[in-house]
Amino acid sequence: MKIDSTTVVTAAEERAAEGARVQVAEFAALPDHRLSLAADVRRGLTLAQKELPPKYFYDERGAMLFEAICDLPEYYQTRTERGILDAIADILVSHAHPSTLVEFGSGSSSKTRVLLDAMNRAGLLGTYVPLDISREMLLETAEQLVAEYDDLNVRAVIADFAMPLPPITVEGNALVIFLGGTIGNFREDEAKRFLRNVAESMRPGDRFVVGVDLVKDPLELNAAYNDAAGITAEFNLNVLDVINRELAADFDRSRFTHYAFYNPGESQIEMHLASRCDQQVTIAALEMCVHFERGETIRTEISRKFTRGSISRLLAAAGLELCEFHSDGANRFALCVASLGDARRTEHTTH
Ligand code: AVJ
Repeated sequence: MKIDSTTVVTAAEERAAEGARVQVAEFAALPDHRLSLAADVRRGLTLAQKELPPKYFYDERGAMLFEAICDLPEYYQTRTERGILDAIADILVSHAHPSTLVEFGSGSSSKTRVLLDAMNRAGLLGTYVPLDISREMLLETAEQLVAEYDDLNVRAVIADFAMPLPPITVEGNALVIFLGGTIGNFREDEAKRFLRNVAESMRPGDRFVVGVDLVKDPLELNAAYNDAAGITAEFNLNVLDVINRELAADFDRSRFTHYAFYNPGESQIEMHLASRCDQQVTIAALEMCVHFERGETIRTEISRKFTRGSISRLLAAAGLELCEFHSDGANRFALCVASLGDARRTEHTTH
């Protein structure tokens, strides 16, 4: 099996089926999934500290496992964020007056409905713009939502949001959301690049809401990534199956073990797969052999934990100003609301 050259993707496609209430745009800049996997695996597994980007966890089984993680007693993040969102949705909408909701990494969008409902109650609901790499997920969600909300238009964008974004032009104010604590999966430089892209796509009056997991007792953090039922271990090992399938590799998952810990120096959870023995793995599609020493690890994910100060500084570095910080009573998780910082606001008014 060999990787062929880039698939050229068409510009924009309109779906007549729902009376054009669903539009899908995809961008030629989007590299083929299998090609980027190939490049990332080749690069990542030749580094001194082997690593793989976390985005490859989410094949069909990975997405199911992640949903199971969200229901685990140890994994407080999803339900905590949901609770905060329920509590602030109406206030958020009354402050930001959005007629458009833009969502990065929309996934299955159950939390999205909390905001769409609030916008609906305020009589503002206009357009939902979900951005995701999965076309299937986008279409499925879009069609469900236009069926549920009478006057809603969905303009889905197939995009890898770690890359420069296509311009999103909408009427009225936009509420731009990035939930789930996923910003924590980006390194500092990636997070800044992503946030600059977000700021770039915003106009004065728009609001950005980002969910972040907070620094807390390491025991609580370690438990959240080492659940008793072993679902997180299964989720982590699943990436080996993805590589086996997509790149004809021969990873034997029984020769790797899930290893996750909180690194307090970096304020991040690190998730690794540790080799249980000295071994050689072949990745046929890359014509590549990878050697593992016993105990050697592949870092498969970082999940950074923030404080109000650290997220405020990160946002500021991207030209965004933290204007509201909503955490739960136990300070486990926070929804941060930001607007364009001074520099960008004046830049806009002078143009
Ligand atoms: C929801 C993507 C942020 O980092 O906590 C859950 C993914 N990894 N358990 C996180 C995840 C291991 C998760 N994100």
